Order: sequence, then structure tokens, then C-alpha cells
Amino acid sequence: MQSVSKLTNLQGKKVILRLDLNVPLNNGEIIDATRIDKVLPTIEFLLKQNTKIVILSHIGRPKGKVIKDLSLKPIQEDIEKKLNEKIKLIEKNIYEIKKEMLDNFNEKILLIENIRFYPDEEKNDINFAKHLASLGNIYVNDAFSCSHRAHASVSEIPKFLPSFSGLQLDLEISALKKITSNITKPVSCIIGGSKISTKINIIKNLISKFDNIVIVGAMANNLIEHNGYNIGKSLKEENVNSIVNEILSLSKEKNCNIIFPEDVMVANDLNGQPKIKELNHIKIDEMILDIGPKTVESICNIIDNSNTILWNGPAGYFENPNFAYGSTAIAKKIVEKNKENKIYSVVGGGDTVSLINSLNALKEFNFVSTAGGAFLEYLEGKELPGISALN
Ligand code: 3PG
Repeated sequence: MQSVSKLTNLQGKKVILRLDLNVPLNNGEIIDATRIDKVLPTIEFLLKQNTKIVILSHIGRPKGKVIKDLSLKPIQEDIEKKLNEKIKLIEKNIYEIKKEMLDNFNEKILLIENIRFYPDEEKNDINFAKHLASLGNIYVNDAFSCSHRAHASVSEIPKFLPSFSGLQLDLEISALKKITSNITKPVSCIIGGSKISTKINIIKNLISKFDNIVIVGAMANNLIEHNGYNIGKSLKEENVNSIVNEILSLSKEKNCNIIFPEDVMVANDLNGQPKIKELNHIKIDEMILDIGPKTVESICNIIDNSNTILWNGPAGYFENPNFAYGSTAIAKKIVEKNKENKIYSVVGGGDTVSLINSLNALKEFNFVSTAGGAFLEYLEGKELPGISALN
């Protein structure tokens, strides 16, 4: 994979730049612009090199139809303001656009309207990719968060053009390598979420590389129950005994410690009063909503003794501040170690990122990934079509 940042001879070139500008919108207002902000350096880099930039991106899932609410217009306006640079939004059918026509636009940045308005994008249509490629001289992928999609603008265009990674994609891959291949040990992972079945492949992939895997969140409830404790009316996933057994036996074989809560916070419902409970004292009408202080202490010890940490998934029902105790304590501990430069920390996953955001601590972690599915698939050890295409 070659980075566009190493190129110096781009003057006058037309660059097809795939970005993931799929940001949350509410009535045309951008709710969270993190994904946009992170790719601005790549656009600035290409502007400085006097290129003409043709941006391709999707937003939402219009399923091959033009849906007005899923226009890239609000994103166009946001980038224009941030870069103080005019952008032309091209709404005309892209099949009718030819490379020579691009010179008729005075703007240095052209933004093609939502690429998923074209059914050929998700069909991964080779002729669509060929046409998109015909508009430029080189292709740059700075859309790690959709590189797990085998779509025309992600994995097919590189068949037709010299292709490079963008600056943000470089950062993302280098951070992920530090927790999957170039690891500084001891390395620990804190993994949460509601369903263990959705994380089993990540856990299986990490078990052979990691020293500790701490399982928290609702998916820990299955482990607690597996160990013979009553979990009352706590959220749990049905029929996952074989998954739990597989994790436990693989961890023994690979010498990886699997840690799950030793005490918890419960309440009678999501808005109830929190009570600290030992595992053998959980009542039938109580539900586990957070980890307890002993568990927090154990996790802090693990963080203290790690050089690398990966965190994906909150420890409890953090949306209610009464049950944000565990997640907040984990975040604070990692931040403390980060400040002393004693740990390399990678965080990913929508909930975890919004928790850290609410603590105003995004900058206190070495790397915060804004990629959802792509982040998880990378951790599972899967090849991402958009990345393989660049190699
Ligand atoms: C994301 O938000 O994870 C990416 O933009 C991919 O979106 P998708 O899940 O609709 O393919």
C-alpha cells in the first residue's frame, strides 16, 4: 500500500478521492462532523499540490435511488466553510460526465452526489468503476470506515488507476497494526457490547495475540451465568453456550486470561437506584447494569500492567449516568496512563467513542477510530476489499 502523502508530482492531476462522509444528519443538520474533520488534511494536501479533486462518497443507504434527504449538500457546505474553498456538487448523472468536462468547472473540488444513488455502486459493477476511474489520473482511498464494502468506488476503481491510501487511512491502519501485528506487549483488550455472538470472531482472533481479554457489558452476563450465578432479569443472549465454551477453552490453549466482572451494579429497571452486588447476591427481579468497584479495581490493575490497550464497548448502561461508573473509571485510567506516556491506546465503536466524547477525552487516547463495521472486521482478521485493492 502506497500513501499519497509520499507523492510530490501531482500538479495538474485529477484525483479521484473516495471519502466516507457518511455522517449523522438530522433535518439536514450535521450532528457529528468528526469523519469530515479527519479527512480535511488529505483534501488540503491535494489542494496544495494543485490537483483537481473529484470526491466520491456515500451517505446513508439509499439503495440505488435518489433520496433528497440523503444528499451530500450539507456536507459540501460544511467542507466549504472549513476550508474556505468553493466546492461544486455534481448532481448530473455521472455517466454523462467525461473527464474533459471537469475542466469546465472553475472549482478545484468537485463533489459527486451520493454515490449510492447509483445502483451500480453496491452491485460493484465493473463498468461503473471503469467510468469513475476514467474521470481521473490517480485514485486515493481515504475512507477506511467503508473499506470493508466490496463496492465499485471502494474496491474496483483501483483496477483501472494508480491507487494510493489517504492520510487518515494511513493513520487508521498504523493504529490497528499496533494492536494486531506490531504489538508492544503486554497487551489487553476491554470488550463490551450486548451480544457475545457479534464479537466472537474478534475475541477468537485476539486470543492468540493478547495477554488479557476483559469482557464487560451485557455480553459478560452470559459468562457470569455460565459460571453458575443467577443473573436475575439481566439482558443476555440465548443459545450461546457453545460460544462461551469455545472462548474459554481457546483462552486456556493460547494462554490468554479471560476476565469477567467479579461484582456488579444492579437495579430493578433501567432507571432504578444502583446497588453494588456480589455475584452470588443478585436477586431474581434485579438486572446487571454496570460493573462493581472490585471489577473496576481489577481492570485498572490490568491497564496499569499493559503497554497496549484496545477498548471496544462500554462496561455498562452508560446512557444513564448512574451506570456510567465502570466505563468512566476505565476511560480515566487509560487517560492517566496515556498522560504518563505509558500506554498505547486504541478505542473504537460508536458507543465507546460517544462515551469518551462526553468526557471530553477524545484527544487523550492515541487513536480513536470512527469506523464501525470496518474496525470490527479488521479486528476479526478479515481482509478488507478496499485495503486489499490498494495492495
Ligand atoms: C459506516 O458508517 O460504517 C460506513 O459509512 C459504511 O456504511 P454502511 O454500513 O452503510 O456500508
